[in-house]
Amino acid sequence: MEIVVTGPSGKLGGALVRLWQGEHIVHGLGREVLDLGKPNELARALENYSFDAIVNGAAMANPEHCENNPEEARRVNTESPAALARICGERGARLVHFSTDYVLDGSREGLKDEEAPVHPLNEYGRSKLAGENLVLEEHAESIVCRVSWIFGTEPGGFLESFLARAGRGEELQAVEDKFSKPTCVTEIARVVLALLERGDLKGLFHLTHEGAPESWWSYASKVLGFAHALGLLEELKEVRRQKMADAARLQVARPIHTAMDPARLRAELGGGGGSWQEAARARVQELLE
Ligand SMILES: NC(=O)c1ccc[n+]([C@@H]2O[C@H](COP(=O)([O-])OP(=O)(O)OC[C@H]3O[C@@H](n4cnc5c(N)ncnc54)[C@H](OP(=O)(O)O)[C@@H]3O)[C@@H](O)[C@H]2O)c1
Repeated sequence: MEIVVTGPSGKLGGALVRLWQGEHIVHGLGREVLDLGKPNELARALENYSFDAIVNGAAMANPEHCENNPEEARRVNTESPAALARICGERGARLVHFSTDYVLDGSREGLKDEEAPVHPLNEYGRSKLAGENLVLEEHAESIVCRVSWIFGTEPGGFLESFLARAGRGEELQAVEDKFSKPTCVTEIARVVLALLERGDLKGLFHLTHEGAPESWWSYASKVLGFAHALGLLEELKEVRRQKMADAARLQVARPIHTAMDPARLRAELGGGGGSWQEAARARVQELLE
C-alpha cells in the first residue's frame, strides 16, 4: 500500500511511519509540506504524491492550546480533516482520521461503545467531534478511529514520561478521578492496516484494547509495578493520589468517564489485540533493552 501519514513529528504519526516503513510505501508529510492550518492549500500540496490512503496523525491535540486558539483548532482539527476526506474521495483513496475519547459524554461510569452519546466539554473535543462528522460527510468511505492515552511512542506518552520521572527519583502523583483506557501504538498500527485491508469497513471505530477503565493513578501504579518486576526500576515507588481539580496543569475542563469499548473492532475484526497490560509490559521490556 502507498500511504501518506500526516504529523510525522508527532507521537502517533511518527510511530506509524516507523512501524509501516519497509512493509509499505510511506510518505510522512510534515507541516512544511501539508499545513493543516491552511485547508484550502492541501489539495495542491498533495498533487505530487500518489497514495492509496491518507492517515491523518496531525492535530492540535493539546486542550489548553485549543481553548486559547479556537479558530486555529477549527482549521486544524475540523476543516483540514474535511478537506483531506474530500481529496481522498476525489482521488479514489481512503482516509483514516484519528479522533479522541474527549468527544464522549463522560458523566457516567463504564465503557463507551461507538453508539455512546457525545458531549465534548472543551474546544479540543468540539473541534475533533466536528472533524469526525465532516470527514464522514465529505467521504463516507473514510474511517474515523477514536483513540485514548497512547503509549509506545517517541516522543513518549504518559507511560514513558511517568517512568522517566520515576527513574529520576521525582515525587510521583497522578489523577485518581479521571478514567480512560491506555492504548499501545503498535495496536493502533495493526488495526489501521487491518481496517484498510478490508475495503468494506468504514465509519467510526473505538480503537483501544479490551479491558476495564483505568484512572491515571491506577495506570501509573500498574506501570510502575511492571517496571519494578521487570527490573527497570529498583525501588517500587508509591504514587500519590491527586484530584483532577487540584492538577494545576489541567486548566481546561476534561470529561471524567471516557474509557472506550472497542465493540465494532471486536465484531468486525474479531479483536485479537490483547490487553493494554500485556502491551505495557512489552513496552517496559523494550525500554529496558
Ligand atoms: N496522544 C494521545 O494519548 C491521544 C489521545 C487521544 C486522541 N489522540 C489523537 O491522536 C492524534 C495524534 O495525536 P498525538 O498525540 O500524536 O499528537 P502530537 O504528538 O501533539 O502530534 C501532533 C502532530 O500534528 C502536527 N501538527 C499540528 N498542527 C499542524 C499543522 N497546522 N499542520 C501540520 N501538522 C500539524 C504536529 O506537527 P509539528 O511538530 O510541526 O507541530 C505533530 O506532528 C490526534 O488526532 C489526537 O487527537 C491522541
